[in-house]
Amino acid sequence: MPVNIRGRSFLKLLDYSPAEIRYLLELSKDFKRLKRSGVPHRYLENKNIVLLFEKTSTRTRCAFEVAGNDLGLGVTYLDPGSSQMGKKESIADTARVLGRMYDGIEYRGFSQELVEQLAAYAGVPVWNGLTDQFHPTQMLADLLTMEEKFGSLPGLRFTYMGDARNNMGNSLMIACAKMGIHFTACAPKELFPAPELVEQAQAIARENHCTVRLTEDVDEGARGANVIYTDIWVSMGEPDEVWETRIKLLRPYQVNGDVMAKADPGAVFMHCLPSFHDTNTTIGADIAQKFGITEMEVTDQVFESPQSVVFDEAENRMHTIKAVIYATLC
Ligand code: CP
Ligand code: NVA
Repeated sequence: MPVNIRGRSFLKLLDYSPAEIRYLLELSKDFKRLKRSGVPHRYLENKNIVLLFEKTSTRTRCAFEVAGNDLGLGVTYLDPGSSQMGKKESIADTARVLGRMYDGIEYRGFSQELVEQLAAYAGVPVWNGLTDQFHPTQMLADLLTMEEKFGSLPGLRFTYMGDARNNMGNSLMIACAKMGIHFTACAPKELFPAPELVEQAQAIARENHCTVRLTEDVDEGARGANVIYTDIWVSMGEPDEVWETRIKLLRPYQVNGDVMAKADPGAVFMHCLPSFHDTNTTIGADIAQKFGITEMEVTDQVFESPQSVVFDEAENRMHTIKAVIYATLC
């Protein structure tokens, strides 16, 4: 059956079938080939999109801007605090205003409910550029990167180590379940994903002949994995006070040489970035000073090793976001 997602919003992978995700991955590969060979692809001239960011960003913002420019779109960026949204104007009103001017809206913010509400009122496609609960555009980049490294996705063994109930843990669990990848969350119990989401993921996984499991045991979690993935220990929007407890909880789950040695010999290391793998950031330096640790979720040695594919993932943000914009606006 042909896949057509024109006019749809892209809010979370739960809303998309494996066939639709597959279509977006194939389109991303086409766009990557065009970009790499310098072939112009200004397919959406005379359309305009707006990027609303209530949290900071490097990759997602730049990926949307470059993808938009490559497609010939007009792109408006609104940074945290420079629109009326939330403070003087409700989400519903903002959505209806922007929907009258723009052909598509990207939103990065706090609750998933906000982006869902924006999409309900906008009348044009809305793309979730990260909420506290999900980060769907990152998923496409991660799936594409894994497919490039391993040739195909079904049957791969994927282990996520760290804060498994944040936007990345939640999203990766669903993305793997949809695409037939065995998913393990390796984390302290306190940071396991919500039981309802785990049940949902397990039901999806059964349909796609793979498994979703949770473990607190690092040896069990890392053993034989094809992919070891981690994310920062404290996410945007969380208060600084949580650092101390989070460090205590997550230190045993740091991705280091021992963890990579337990994984499959051909395993790759992945991270959505940004990452605290040294003290060359203000937060990294501050944490080192307060808590005496110079590396957090991943050691510098693993981050810089040949197994690390983090910059391929970062590049793939742009190709996959281009596919989402094109497929929903064309
Ligand atoms: N991975 C990711 O979303 O990065 P940014 O926060 O820089 O957009
Ligand atoms: N969990 C991180 C992801 C950043 C891309 C955060 O929300 O800050």
